[in-house]
Amino acid sequence: MSPKFWQRRKSSPADEPLLLLPEKMPQHVAIIMDGNGRWAQKRGLPRTFGHKAGAEVLRSILTDASELGIKYLTAYAFSTENWRRPHDEVDFLMDLFSTYLDNEVDALIAQQVKLRFIGSQERLSPALCQRIAEAEKRTAAGTGITLNLAVDYGGRAEIVRAARLLAQDVLDGQRAVSEIDESLFSEYLFTQGQPDPDLLIRPGGDLRISNFLLWQLAYAELWVTDVLWPDFTPAEFRRAIRDYQKRDRRFGGLTPQK
Ligand code: IPE
Ligand code: IPE
Ligand code: MG
Repeated sequence: MSPKFWQRRKSSPADEPLLLLPEKMPQHVAIIMDGNGRWAQKRGLPRTFGHKAGAEVLRSILTDASELGIKYLTAYAFSTENWRRPHDEVDFLMDLFSTYLDNEVDALIAQQVKLRFIGSQERLSPALCQRIAEAEKRTAAGTGITLNLAVDYGGRAEIVRAARLLAQDVLDGQRAVSEIDESLFSEYLFTQGQPDPDLLIRPGGDLRISNFLLWQLAYAELWVTDVLWPDFTPAEFRRAIRDYQKRDRRFGGLTPQK
């Protein structure tokens, strides 16, 4: 069990929870979990140690997001471009995803988390694909937060895939070209049925999107920190949300006059 807010406050003043407004809570938060390699290298450790530490941080942020009443958390774990990394690092990450599933699924079920994988899976091993399918099935009845884990995910690949599926439906006579609009197109994305992210958090300090959720992030608020992902804490997460709550989201319109 994670400590409750007041226990956390007592035990660690540095983690003092910020006052957040429940009515302004983002529904969907997306996170680019970046900086694992640098975190390890700063300590003279192999990059893989950073990935392992990063996986543990995801657990604490997921728990915090769930306690805050956030409905969707999408975490970028492996991009379509990350296949360019050395084989050893890729293999380690693939094993880490399997281990994560082996170790976490029971706890996710207990927390009412619904786990979904977004990404292509074409280049994943059959064993990992099977574990993913089982994990999704076992957590499907979760009534709490949805965790989208983006593995072998690329925003452009997702859009191309959606275009192909939609084109096929048109060819099969299931859809008319005149029906195609933004809302219909969204139904062909991995995040079908989910609201777009309200807030994108990028640890590790880089000011780019790195092919993450290109369609869905159209109007997300951006929050970047130099803190590396393995050092990211629930307090940092709440700082991002607090900042988000102060933003004026105009969506191209004007702020209503008070
Ligand atoms: C993010 O951390 C994890 C993955 C991309 C798999 P990095 O491995 O990119 O860490 P840095 O950016 O090199 O520090
Ligand atoms: C983005 O991080 C992908 C993930 C965190 C999974 P990268 O480290 O791959 O991004 P770039 O290469 O710095 O853009
Ligand atoms: Mg990186």
